[in-house]
Amino acid sequence: MKNIYKNSPKNLILARNYLNNNNVIGVPTETVYGLAGNAYSNVAIKKIYKLKKRPKKNPLIIHYYDLKALQNDAYINDKFTKLYKRFSPGPLTYILVKKKNSKIPSLVNPNLKTIAVRFPKNKIIRKLLKDIKFPLAIPSANISSRISPVSSGDVLDEFGTKIKFILNGGFTKIGLESTVINLCGKPKLLRPGAISNKEISKVLKTKVSIVAKPMKLVSPGLLKRHYSPGIPIKLNKKKSDNKAAFIVFGKKYKKGSNIFNLSKSGDMKEAARNLYKTLRKIKNLGFKKINVVKIPNNKIGIAINDRLRKAAY
Ligand code: TXA
Ligand code: MG
Repeated sequence: MKNIYKNSPKNLILARNYLNNNNVIGVPTETVYGLAGNAYSNVAIKKIYKLKKRPKKNPLIIHYYDLKALQNDAYINDKFTKLYKRFSPGPLTYILVKKKNSKIPSLVNPNLKTIAVRFPKNKIIRKLLKDIKFPLAIPSANISSRISPVSSGDVLDEFGTKIKFILNGGFTKIGLESTVINLCGKPKLLRPGAISNKEISKVLKTKVSIVAKPMKLVSPGLLKRHYSPGIPIKLNKKKSDNKAAFIVFGKKYKKGSNIFNLSKSGDMKEAARNLYKTLRKIKNLGFKKINVVKIPNNKIGIAINDRLRKAAY
C-alpha cells in the first residue's frame, strides 16, 4: 500500500534517513502507532505539531533506547530507577525534571520544567532508536483529539499522503497508550494504561493514586475530550437499538451487524487491543451513535474506561 513500508533492513535505512533529515515518519510501538521525529530538532517538532493539529501547549513524550541515552536530558531519582528496572523497556512513561543543558527544545514541553520519557519495547522502534544519534519525540499518530492508530493502515486513514513514510509493524500488541506517571514529588498516575497503578504501587511500596484531571497541570480542561470517533457515545448501556453500534464484552451477546464484541472470552487484554480498532471501524461504517456495555473497572479495564469516558465527553 501507498506510503506503507514493510520492516526490512533496507527500509530501516530509509527510515533513519528521513529522521536524520528532520522529517516525520509513522512508526509502530507496542502501545499505539506514533509520529516520530528528531526530539532535538525544532524543525521536526514543529512538523509534528502541525501534522497533528495539536495544541502547542500539549507536551510530547521523548522516546529513548536506554538509560544511557537519557542521561543528558533528565534528572533521575530512586523511584524512577526502581520502576525502570521492572517495567522498561515497556509501556510506561515517566515525568522527570529536564536537565538545564539538555538539547530538548522548549517547543517539546512549553512552559514546563519537566519532560515525559519512555523506553518503548517494540522491536522495530528499538532497532531505529539504537542506530540514531538522538531520541525521538513520538506522539500517537492521530489528528489531535481523535482515535489513536493501532495499525499502519490507521495512520494512513488519519494522514493520507501527508506522511510519506509509515513503517509497518502489524497490529500493536497493547492497543492503548502508555501509562504516564509523574515522578516529580509524590508519584501520581496521570494516564492509566497497561501497567496499572497497583503494579506500580507494589514496586514503589507506596500507594500511587490516579489523578482525575491531569491536564490541569498543563492547561485547564484542555483534553477532556479525546480518543473520539466524532459521534455520540453512551456508556454503561444494557441494550441498544439496531441503528446504534453496540460495543459489548463477554460471551452472552449474540452476533449482529451492529454488535461489536471487544472480547468474546471476556479477556481484558484482548478488549484493550480491540478498542480503537472497533471505534475506527464503527466510524468508517457510518454509524451515527454508539452504545457501550459496562466494562469491568480493574487492571487494564481502568485504562479502557478512561479512554471510553474521554471519547464520550
Ligand atoms: O504509548 C504512548 O505513550 C504513545 C506511543 C506512540 O509511544 N504516545 C503517546 O503520546 O500517547 P501522546 O503525545 O499522544 O500523549 C502524551 C501524553 C499527553 O497526555 C501529554 O499531555 C502528556 O503525555 N505529557 C507529555 N509531557 C508531559 C509533561 N512534561 N508533564 C505532564 N504530561 C506530559
Ligand atoms: Mg495521543
